[in-house]
Amino acid sequence: MNIKDNWLKLADGNQMPQEGFGLYKVDGQETMTNTIRDAYKAGYRLFDTAQLYGNEAAVGTAFKNLQIPRDQLFLTTKVAEDNQGYDQTIKSVQESLKKLQTDYVDLLLVHWPIERSFFETWRALEELKRAGLAKSIGVSNYQMIHLQYLATKADEMPVVDQIELHPLLTQKPLLKFNHDHRIITQAWSPLGRGAVLGEPVLKEIGTAHGKSPAQVILRWHLQNGVSFIPKSVHTARIQQNADIYDFALSPDEMHQIDALNNYQRTGREPELTYEYDHQY
Ligand code: A2P
Repeated sequence: MNIKDNWLKLADGNQMPQEGFGLYKVDGQETMTNTIRDAYKAGYRLFDTAQLYGNEAAVGTAFKNLQIPRDQLFLTTKVAEDNQGYDQTIKSVQESLKKLQTDYVDLLLVHWPIERSFFETWRALEELKRAGLAKSIGVSNYQMIHLQYLATKADEMPVVDQIELHPLLTQKPLLKFNHDHRIITQAWSPLGRGAVLGEPVLKEIGTAHGKSPAQVILRWHLQNGVSFIPKSVHTARIQQNADIYDFALSPDEMHQIDALNNYQRTGREPELTYEYDHQY
């Protein structure tokens, strides 16, 4: 197996690469184009952006300049809190598509749950899927309580929940809930924004396999069955992060990594974001 052939089946029948590429904090046209070129060459096909990142236009221009065929790409974007609500969501996604220079995204996510327009925003996503502007729809930063609440009114449920997930925040109960409800969990900040890379246990395990701590973490995500979207703007790291398909972690090594969990978030607490209606 390699990064290019490794796809997961979604509950709506579509497929999604298990390993993708995160574009958060990839800024500037030249960096964007070089980064996407390196990632595509390394085999990444899923590219993850968001209205909030302010780089959708640069992403669209990069794909155009690189002449990558649209059907070779799996594109994700996310609706920002300020654009939530039925009409604003529809309008903002139409604008996102213009910036991305495409007719559809493969995956459209609600970026954060917020109380103000919780059901209306989801209704807009269902409509955008029906209209073909999004092939699949999902959410991000939803906890069990948000998914259960959404289920009380939704016509169809999210097929992906993208959450902060790494060895310092393992979120096992949510992973089980998502799995039981046929929702694919996708890890953002799969490397904990670099914070976890210095952990001695990861170095030890990496040395045993001739791999770096980052590769050990990504392999842990892979074996957990979740999707994950590492980000780097460095060619060697982009390639390294795709080179995790020729070794396996033992059950004991998986447990050692699980044991690093200390509930440490780098991002906001989803329930508070829901209550405050924005990332506080
Ligand atoms: P850079 O872009 O300078 O390479 P996450 O995906 O968890 O948000 O983590 C991304 C952070 O980890 C970025 O700061 C990125 O920096 C860094 N990073 C990505 N891949 C590696 C790697 N293989 N080794 C070390 N640091 C990495």
